[in-house]
Amino acid sequence: MEGKSKVLVIGGTGHLGKRLVNASLEQGHDTFVLQRPEIGVNIEKVEMLLSFKKQGAHLVTASFNDHQSLVEAVKQVDVVICAISGDVDHISSHQILLQLKLVDAIKEAGNVKRFLPSEFGTDPSRMSDAMEPGRVTFDDKMAVRKAIEDARIPFTYVSANCFAGYFVGGLCQFGHILPSRDSVVLFGDANQKSIFVDEDDIAAYTIKTIDDPLTLNKTLYIRPPANILSQRQVVETWEKLIGKPLRKSSLSEKKNFSIAYQIHYRGGLPQAIPLIYAYVLTGYLGKRLRFLPSEFGTDPARMAEAIEPGRVTFDDKMVVRKAIEDAGIPFTYVSANCFAGYMVGGLCQPGHILPSKESVTLFGDGNQKSIFVDEDDIATYTIKTIDDPRTLNKTLYLRPPENILSQREVVEMWEKLIGKELHKSSLSEQEFLNIMKEQGYAEQVGLTHYYHVFYHGCLANFEIGKDAEEASVLYPDIKYIKVEDYLKRYL
Ligand SMILES: NC(=O)c1ccc[n+]([C@@H]2O[C@H](COP(=O)([O-])OP(=O)(O)OC[C@H]3O[C@@H](n4cnc5c(N)ncnc54)[C@H](OP(=O)(O)O)[C@@H]3O)[C@@H](O)[C@H]2O)c1
Repeated sequence: MEGKSKVLVIGGTGHLGKRLVNASLEQGHDTFVLQRPEIGVNIEKVEMLLSFKKQGAHLVTASFNDHQSLVEAVKQVDVVICAISGDVDHISSHQILLQLKLVDAIKEAGNVKRFLPSEFGTDPSRMSDAMEPGRVTFDDKMAVRKAIEDARIPFTYVSANCFAGYFVGGLCQFGHILPSRDSVVLFGDANQKSIFVDEDDIAAYTIKTIDDPLTLNKTLYIRPPANILSQRQVVETWEKLIGKPLRKSSLSEKKNFSIAYQIHYRGGLPQAIPLIYAYVLTGYLGKRLRFLPSEFGTDPARMAEAIEPGRVTFDDKMVVRKAIEDAGIPFTYVSANCFAGYMVGGLCQPGHILPSKESVTLFGDGNQKSIFVDEDDIATYTIKTIDDPRTLNKTLYLRPPENILSQREVVEMWEKLIGKELHKSSLSEQEFLNIMKEQGYAEQVGLTHYYHVFYHGCLANFEIGKDAEEASVLYPDIKYIKVEDYLKRYL
């Protein structure tokens, strides 16, 4: 790492940001990643940050709402790279102007040798004639450039052209990121040249440039010669690969078309029912088939007494079970109990997925037993079971014996690891229910689950019985992650 700049990546869990973190680590830079408190219980982001830490990155807590925290974060490094979201299309929010706060922080810190703002696309300085409303991306990026240059902050602007993931994947068609094997809509004659760059390559070039005096206070264009292609050429390359010509239509520039996003929120129920019919219709019945519906939690068959509104999860899962069984489809239901990432990480507290080193709120006396399973172990047990005749038409419970613990026991393990006792408060059952009633519908659904697990012990308060199996008994060869080891990732 000697002689190499220390790098802070902002937006590190994003589409490009995660690649920048990896490239920085791969190229031997001491790498820091901004951890925003606002990500809350976004488990994907938290897990990604923890995996960066595991690879050697340092996580730095700071918020765009707290100027001083940003100043302290940038003070730790030589180079700041921001990959905050910038496109109003691609279903991401547009946050480019937030970088003005970052510019203020970098200016105050005074130590940063180079700042690479979130650009990574079309060069905005060449887009003064862009049409509304998309020009907002370019206008905002230019406003950030002006602030950087007014503050005399050394910079490099990376003009990365088309992200391959979006453009090559969809054969350059809007609203597609996977290539069709049947048809394609061309932009006019489709002969305009564009430039396509793999996002990992963008990250590698970006990190390569940060210590290069040649690109200081300049724009770095990424134009890999073999990737300067028209849409038609991209389509032809795909046709060659699949050995088949696509049906082509063309969209003239004048043709009026409106773009609407259809964001489908697909719950387990609407998704599963058509799947069941598909199995029946395609005549798979009677063959070697097994269906594992989306369960992986509390066994819904034991939750007939669950309270509203959270019982919707159990009721819907039971409807799917009935449809499966009525259709005579062979099944296995996996009852996975508590996902460790949500429950262990937050010391079982709703709204937390990282353990505090200061305090914890216990559910009552904190002594109801629960069961915690690492999500990777859940997946391993699930795959293990699919060809196992012992679990055919049964429920498979995941109950790793050492992970059958109360909230208090989880907290004590954490206290042992950090060498410190947490300040403890307690919430009675009635207090919990009162707080729950004041929340919105979605929060109430989530809290209902905590209620049954941590006040009534619904996961561990029954014997499995003969018509079901337990995973750690069936598959003793799997070395499951124990809660104590799971907690070490947060140290
Ligand atoms: N050339 C192309 O084809 C192309 C395509 C897409 C994007 N781009 C450009 O590439 C850059 C990065 O885009 P992307 O698609 O990688 O971004 P993205 O995945 O949509 O988001 C990147 C990150 O922005 C941060 N962010 C989002 N909302 C925020 C908020 N309210 N406050 C603070 N941070 C917030 C998050 O960082 P945390 O990790 O902190 O949560 C998020 O992970 C943008 O400038 C964009 O215009 C170019």
